[in-house]
Amino acid sequence: MDRSFLSTIFLAFYVFVPIVSSYGNANTCRAFCGNLKIDYPFALQSGCGHPGFRELLFCINDVLMFHISSGSYRVLGIDYAYQSLVLLDPHMSTCDSIVLGGRGNGFVVEQWRAPYLNPTSDNMFMLIGCSADSSLFQAYHGKRSPCRNVSGMSCEEYYGCPGWDMIRPKQYGVVYGSGPPGCCALPFEDIKAVNLSKLGCQGYSSAYSLAPLRRAGPDEWSYGIEVKYSVQGNASFCRACEATGGSCGHDIDGKNDLCLCSGWNSTGTCDLVHSESHRRKWSLMVALAGFVTGTIILETSHLQ
Ligand SMILES: *[C@@H]1O[C@H](CO)[C@@H](O)[C@H](O)[C@H]1NC(C)=O
Ligand SMILES: *[C@@H]1O[C@H](CO)[C@@H](O)[C@H](O)[C@H]1NC(C)=O
Ligand SMILES: *[C@@H]1O[C@H](CO)[C@@H](O)[C@H](O)[C@H]1NC(C)=O
Ligand SMILES: *[C@@H]1O[C@H](CO)[C@@H](O)[C@H](O)[C@H]1NC(C)=O
Repeated sequence: MDRSFLSTIFLAFYVFVPIVSSYGNANTCRAFCGNLKIDYPFALQSGCGHPGFRELLFCINDVLMFHISSGSYRVLGIDYAYQSLVLLDPHMSTCDSIVLGGRGNGFVVEQWRAPYLNPTSDNMFMLIGCSADSSLFQAYHGKRSPCRNVSGMSCEEYYGCPGWDMIRPKQYGVVYGSGPPGCCALPFEDIKAVNLSKLGCQGYSSAYSLAPLRRAGPDEWSYGIEVKYSVQGNASFCRACEATGGSCGHDIDGKNDLCLCSGWNSTGTCDLVHSESHRRKWSLMVALAGFVTGTIILETSHLQ
């Protein structure tokens, strides 16, 4: 063995190993799906992100999908500053087409996930073709209709959409004096779950307003479900983790936050001082470096 070879190993241990071990794992949880950036609290890899959002997003052929108990939705966008996402249900009615037959997903989240995800108060759900004995109307029996305008948008305007031209001659008329309305608009907080079969409705649509812009007409509304997300728990944990080069994640059962560091997981930060396991690894590295140094000295003395 020649001296320069050994010096190279020596250098590698002293210079490169610590660099790699400090910074190698930074941002391992970040990802892209198509052109959408996936960042905390969301993640595509298991163990990454906030536990409230685990097993929620999936990237399929560069299309980001959002999966909850009522079904799968395409994610049109994520706004990290406003903490919201916009979802599209392929079987949701829009201005151009009214989809009946209860094929739409509606919007129902698992109970444990409910604190983390809620359609915004500016989001209007329009329930279409609900039966007269729907709990929607029963609960309000004798009182005012539960249907209302949301964020300057209304069913009255929605009836002007071309999609209704196919429906109007049939059961659901704009004139609904006696029977239930063909369309009933509500914000999510009034019903807490949009379950079409439970509500006895044939279909639904969802539109949201891009405040402060007031949409001119239903053909210019933004169709989709605007969902506000909130990160519950200890926000400073993630900030501290990222500040030390880690990625925010959680344990397998999603109970505890974990800071994913290079080659190990911390319940705090990636700071060397606080880590027992890392300290052990560090001592091993020092021992190896010592061994190499020793070998060099031995080799050198042999050569002389
Ligand atoms: C760290 O945690 C992640 C996510 O829970 C897990 O996938 C990984 O195996 C853990 N790594 C170690 C070294 O324990
Ligand atoms: C919707 O309601 C039906 C009937 O009550 C129920 O069987 C179904 O599980 C509900 N769907 C969701 C996603 O909660
Ligand atoms: C909702 O808006 C429509 C016009 O878009 C209006 O005719 C109707 O009176 C409004 N309803 C309520 C309850 O404000
Ligand atoms: C939140 O996390 C920080 C940083 O890890 C920690 O110092 C603090 O004790 C935590 N607070 C709570 C309430 O868990």
